[in-house]
Amino acid sequence: MKTSGKIELVICLGSSCFSRGNRETLETLKAYLKENKLEDRVMFKGQLCSGSCNKGPVIWVNGKQYEAVTPAGAIGIIEQSFAECHER
Ligand code: FES
Repeated sequence: MKTSGKIELVICLGSSCFSRGNRETLETLKAYLKENKLEDRVMFKGQLCSGSCNKGPVIWVNGKQYEAVTPAGAIGIIEQSFAECHER
């Protein structure tokens, strides 16, 4: 991965994940990226239900699945991913 590589962030917008937290997570992440001028570092995608509802709300960062994600948790995941990006 390149130092200035983009992070691929996929958020489940299926009804279960969306209503149990991803609606708020999506807003929180968008605001966070805007505030920190990181919008061009992230490829944001929405995805429909992947069948992991019982582990949800789920998001994927660079293909890795994160489960039971809260808005605050999602920020932590993104920060961690940026940090890892810089290390490589
Ligand atoms: S709604 Fe997200 S995995 Fe089913």
